Amino acid sequence: MPSRSKTPTASSAFDQALERYRQRVEEQLDAWLPPAHIHPARLHEAMRYSVLGGGKRIRPILVYAAGEALGVAAEHLDAPACAVELIHAYSLVHDDLPAMDDDDLRRGKPTCHKYYDEATAILVGDALQTLAFHVLAHAPCDDIEPAARLRMIGTLSMAAGSRGMVGGQAIDLAATGQQLDIAQLEDMHIHKTGALIRASVLMGALAAPELDMAHFEALDHYAKCIGLAFQIQDDILDVIGDSNETGKTTGADAERSKPTYPALLGMEQAAARAAELVDEALASLDGFDQRADLLRDIARYIVSRRS
Ligand code: IPE
Ligand code: IPE
Ligand code: MG
Ligand code: MG
Ligand code: MG
Repeated sequence: MPSRSKTPTASSAFDQALERYRQRVEEQLDAWLPPAHIHPARLHEAMRYSVLGGGKRIRPILVYAAGEALGVAAEHLDAPACAVELIHAYSLVHDDLPAMDDDDLRRGKPTCHKYYDEATAILVGDALQTLAFHVLAHAPCDDIEPAARLRMIGTLSMAAGSRGMVGGQAIDLAATGQQLDIAQLEDMHIHKTGALIRASVLMGALAAPELDMAHFEALDHYAKCIGLAFQIQDDILDVIGDSNETGKTTGADAERSKPTYPALLGMEQAAARAAELVDEALASLDGFDQRADLLRDIARYIVSRRS
């Protein structure tokens, strides 16, 4: 039964599910990443530095949650969960570079280019991106059907590229210092952040052996709504967040004249838009049973999170 009114409480089943899946994906990431002593050791150490130890892992958790909603066992979701987190980690390493947002702090630690150097950070991003597709291609045969594997590779490559996240980053760079209207701002957010969040949910759905179009489209709509809400909350936390909680330098968007939701609409309207998107996401899950409760809780968490 849908449970739209339920709110997750501290140390709830929701917290436990987040922790369980976070640990699960971190073990998998640790196993896929080359050991730090393997040649070229500095690159491998920097890749591990950038992926392990920090991060909410919300994209892999969405892969598991979407699969859970459709009754898919976690072992069939491990590869796409790892793959999307590797793409995300690469996007953060490049996003922080001086040529982009020029940030010094990420996940509570010095950014990759600060701790290592710029050239290493560029190579870390490159290597994490190819590792993501390696994981999808080389996950055990019993875990993912060949057709599903190919669709996941297609979904993630499209979401990561110029018509998805990378395109969004290009829009972001071109928009810095410009006045965007709301449609342009949403377009930027949908690409730079929404695309990978959408791919996370869709890859979880693709792992289901039998999936009807109505459920797939409902999940797609859910994912689009929470993807945009996620970046609105990210913009909000850049203004009102605590750096000890976000692990990033706050106030960075305003300092760099980035177009953001709070800058364009004000804090109250930005929060109202995010809440509206969460309601829309929850409504799109009405045709799902209680196995979609984790997806429901994640939608609420996205706008209440402090990190
Ligand atoms: C930060 O993403 C970058 C955006 C796309 C908004 P997250 O807030 O998911 O960062 P981590 O992975 O938890 O560090
Ligand atoms: C980042 O958006 C989006 C991607 C990394 C693709 P932001 O630049 O707002 O992310 P943070 O705030 O640095 O995490
Ligand atoms: Mg950025
Ligand atoms: Mg940034
Ligand atoms: Mg931000």
